[in-house]
Amino acid sequence: MPTAAAPVAGAGTRPERHGRLTTLPEPRLPGLGAAARSRIVAIVLWANLVCQMGIILTGGLVRLTGSGLGCSTWPSCEPGQFTPRYTPESGIHPFIEFGNRTMTGLLGIVAVLVLIVTWRWMRHRGRAFLLLAAVPLIGTIAQALIGALVVILHLHPGLVSPHFLISPLLVVASTVLLVRAMDEEGPRRLAAPRAAVWVYAPLAAAGFVVLVLGTIVTGTGPHSGDSGDITRLLINPVEIARAHAAAVWVFCALLVALLVILLKGRADRAPRRAAIVLLLLTALQGVIGYVQYFAGLPAAVVFLHLIGAALFSGGIAWVGAELVTRRPAAGTDPAAPGEHPEPVAPEGTR
Ligand code: HEM
Repeated sequence: MPTAAAPVAGAGTRPERHGRLTTLPEPRLPGLGAAARSRIVAIVLWANLVCQMGIILTGGLVRLTGSGLGCSTWPSCEPGQFTPRYTPESGIHPFIEFGNRTMTGLLGIVAVLVLIVTWRWMRHRGRAFLLLAAVPLIGTIAQALIGALVVILHLHPGLVSPHFLISPLLVVASTVLLVRAMDEEGPRRLAAPRAAVWVYAPLAAAGFVVLVLGTIVTGTGPHSGDSGDITRLLINPVEIARAHAAAVWVFCALLVALLVILLKGRADRAPRRAAIVLLLLTALQGVIGYVQYFAGLPAAVVFLHLIGAALFSGGIAWVGAELVTRRPAAGTDPAAPGEHPEPVAPEGTR
């Protein structure tokens, strides 16, 4: 049963809770209850996160199959021809490249849905939440334009690398959006000792450095875009791969320090669980990294490394988002699970 919370100032409606989400009633569709709205919001926010991770993989597939210039123009695949066409010379490359572009279109549609559902049903979450909900759409538009430049500039690695790096940032925004949407509505508080926040800041920075160095390693190697003759970064691949792995070790040290703080200090279960999952993910990703390095970069293992990179970005954001919460502190919540006796107040009034 949904429970009604206190009125939202100026909205003239009462947010209703169903499960972990509160949504505003939809006056245009009075038959759409809290359960249906919550389900739609959850599906849209999860779909957004999955798509933002998915494009990292389809983009990777373009590079791993050497399909970067499978379509020679943008947005049409070939001059005067929007969709790809099979020819014995081009093979499946245009289809892979065009599939990645189609994925961008899907991402754009889901990002618009994110804006619509949050604006219609979750504006009681405040302005910061709504701004965060706009990030996937803004980022996807930026990615589509940069993607066009990448094709026009013939896959210059100096541009392929930033093109890749925007995606993990969008994964971060999408993960935080999901965690915040599922949060309660009480006053904001730290869910872990303050020292955890001090360790988290350099940890997140180290995570980004790992990703940046990873893309530079790719830029020096055989999987940087096209199977033909393209400009590669003139950096020693072995040295940069070592720097990439060294950054991973720094990240691991910081993550272990964070875990010690979370497990020894009075931290909530949520950040502890997120940090443990991130540690396992990082360990697995590190093993995959070394395997691909020593095995001479087989495409299948490189693809697994990309899946790991997408999950790694989401994992870092998950840990960070769980360090702050609006859940009542343990022992102070007399409410039954799924119920919320606190008034739901608009962001500005908290
Ligand atoms: C948390 C651990 C790690 C993360 C998050 C990570 C992330 C990444 C990313 C984002 C890329 C670029 C992918 C692309 O541009 O397509 C990459 C490439 C690469 N990484 Fe890692 N990496 C990790 C650990 C390691 C380790 C321990 C090694 C061991 C040397 C390693 C070796 C490589 C190599 C060789 C490449 C280039 C692959 C290619 O040429 O396609 N990685 N990594």
